[in-house]
Amino acid sequence: MRIYLDHNATTPVRPEVADAMDVVQRSLFGNASSVHEEGAAAKAECDRARARVASLLRVEPADVLFTGGATEANNTALLGLLAQRTEGPGHLVTTNVEHPSVDAPLEWLERAGWCVTRVPVDAEGRVEEDAVVAAITPETALVSVIWANNETGVLQPVEAIAAAVRDHGVPFHSDATQAVGKVSVDLSSVPVDLLSLSAHKLNGPKGVGCLIARGGIAFEPILLGGPQERRRRGGTENVAGIAGLGVACELAEHELPERSSRYRALRDRLWEGLQAKVPGIRRNGSAVFVLPNSLNVEFEGAAGEILLQALDLEGIAVSSGAACASGTIEPSQVLLAMGRSPEAARGSLRMSVGYGVDEVQIDQLLAVLPDLVERARRASTV
Ligand SMILES: Cc1ncc(COP(=O)(O)O)c(C=O)c1O
Repeated sequence: MRIYLDHNATTPVRPEVADAMDVVQRSLFGNASSVHEEGAAAKAECDRARARVASLLRVEPADVLFTGGATEANNTALLGLLAQRTEGPGHLVTTNVEHPSVDAPLEWLERAGWCVTRVPVDAEGRVEEDAVVAAITPETALVSVIWANNETGVLQPVEAIAAAVRDHGVPFHSDATQAVGKVSVDLSSVPVDLLSLSAHKLNGPKGVGCLIARGGIAFEPILLGGPQERRRRGGTENVAGIAGLGVACELAEHELPERSSRYRALRDRLWEGLQAKVPGIRRNGSAVFVLPNSLNVEFEGAAGEILLQALDLEGIAVSSGAACASGTIEPSQVLLAMGRSPEAARGSLRMSVGYGVDEVQIDQLLAVLPDLVERARRASTV
């Protein structure tokens, strides 16, 4: 049996989710825009899912816009909101640890003449609320801050930032893709205007997510060509995927406190075990303001890629703090933003627990890792 510790990359689909999707695939084939009975049944399924997402996040069902995942939700939030501006390019505020699906549209906007302020994080991976607010100018059209980082799990002070940004009368977006389903994202007390999430990060299917757009905030659709989702997103709805997202949100709502503490206990067992068994390690990012399931560790002198492959051969899936780009190993931009050196970033691994992980598996990892680190260190010096 393999041990999967890469739940920040994607999660296994829960049986309850797969069952709900199966029912839709087999019997609810209608087009949710059709006015006949088959269409109405598909629309009812989407509306049930909409209510479930809204209930988890404490928003109105009308605020939920289904998308093809968080990448699309982030692109819609940034490009769709700013496309309706008539005054020409303005100014945006964000952080230097955003996901590429926020970064890339921002770079596109920069090429179109927009000015982007990227507030730097500290060594713990967090931005200062005051620094974000201080970056706002009269030209600022949007502030976008990731809720929890995908590589480190570090949580940003989104609640405080959202309130301060609201006081300045500027729209606020947060990419909450990693947070939803792992920590409470209760928007009844957080004045977020736009929020992105993805089903496959909370035991739902891939290729579906949503953008929460509150209080009737206006934006241009980025997928043109249909009246779906109240003219905010063209394209026939992925009814099965949407139903799966709905069930995943319902499960998250019921299980959240228990789920968070179970993940935290497993993650802490892993970290304590590593500290006891492996010399020369260092935890990347805040140990306090962090998702309960995430652990990012630097193994001094060991190449993360070698370690990752050695673990894979042992049947254990983790992720490295580096990405392979055009044949070379690029260190993680997030770890570099936190002041780590390229070597330190290349020697880091992300381990993220989730559904199906138990203590026995953590202990199995702890049993093999010291030797693998030793070997990776030797291999990295030759
Ligand atoms: C923080 C964050 N935002 C956005 C995305 C993109 O989500 P999707 O795979 O649904 O497009 C991811 C997925 O890796 C993520 O971790």
